[in-house]
Amino acid sequence: MIENKVAYITGGTKGIGFGIAKILLENGISVAFSGRKKEDVEKVENDLKQYSQNVLGLVSDVKSLENEANAVKSIIEKFGRLDFVIANAGLGIFKPVDELSSEEWKDMIDTNLTGVFHTLKASVEELKKTEGYYITISSLAGANFFENGTGYNASKFGVVGFTQAAMIDLRKYNIKSTVIMPGSVATNFNGNIPSEKDAWKIQPDDMGNLVLDILKMNPRVLPSKIEFRATKPNA
Ligand SMILES: NC(=O)c1ccc[n+]([C@@H]2O[C@H](COP(=O)([O-])OP(=O)(O)OC[C@H]3O[C@@H](n4cnc5c(N)ncnc54)[C@H](OP(=O)(O)O)[C@@H]3O)[C@@H](O)[C@H]2O)c1
Repeated sequence: MIENKVAYITGGTKGIGFGIAKILLENGISVAFSGRKKEDVEKVENDLKQYSQNVLGLVSDVKSLENEANAVKSIIEKFGRLDFVIANAGLGIFKPVDELSSEEWKDMIDTNLTGVFHTLKASVEELKKTEGYYITISSLAGANFFENGTGYNASKFGVVGFTQAAMIDLRKYNIKSTVIMPGSVATNFNGNIPSEKDAWKIQPDDMGNLVLDILKMNPRVLPSKIEFRATKPNA
């Protein structure tokens, strides 16, 4: 039974995180989500209320462990428990390695990789209590390197390794861990404006339905690493 459980999704103000929040709310799960700007978080919290009132928007930057610890504290204050953590927040800067600045490198590693550690670090004691679920959003870029991808590839390869090692550490507490590696998703990622041209891509709702299916699986089984791609790329 997944109804009446509580999820925390980092980076839920748009894109994949928003799609996951919407589907989980529609299926009776309470959802806390984060973003970096108060105005955006408040607006999205209001938008998500059309699916369920059991939603909580939090201002938190995953680069900060203190921010993430405060976010988890607020979730426990409001909902009393935390069952599912989806470490989704991320960004991509795509440039040749000789042009990538140290600040851009740091931004990607601190958000995409250290951020998923911060989110788990802040929530793991709550997940032990609920025998919960920790999901990270890596990318197909976590297994396939490409031109202009050094910082992004490094961060997403890192998320795959991190989540799989965490899976081994956490399964002894009956906490499940899964890393999802999506292909192209129709979001605002890298300055994209979603439109008709993105119809062939994975949609944010598809990501939400995938997460829902994973959460519903029998406690006996654990899909620890999932590659998730569009059926017909660039169709
Ligand atoms: N779109 C794709 O094709 C694709 C494919 C594979 C993997 N992914 C991964 O999927 C995840 C979500 O990306 P998306 O496509 O949904 O992109 P998006 O539309 O740009 O959304 C990114 C989300 O992350 C949040 N975020 C960024 N930095 C943050 C930080 N430091 N702290 C907290 N939240 C932060 C943003 O919130 P605010 O801006 O409001 O703070 C926003 O909600 C990323 O990890 C990305 O690498 C995307």
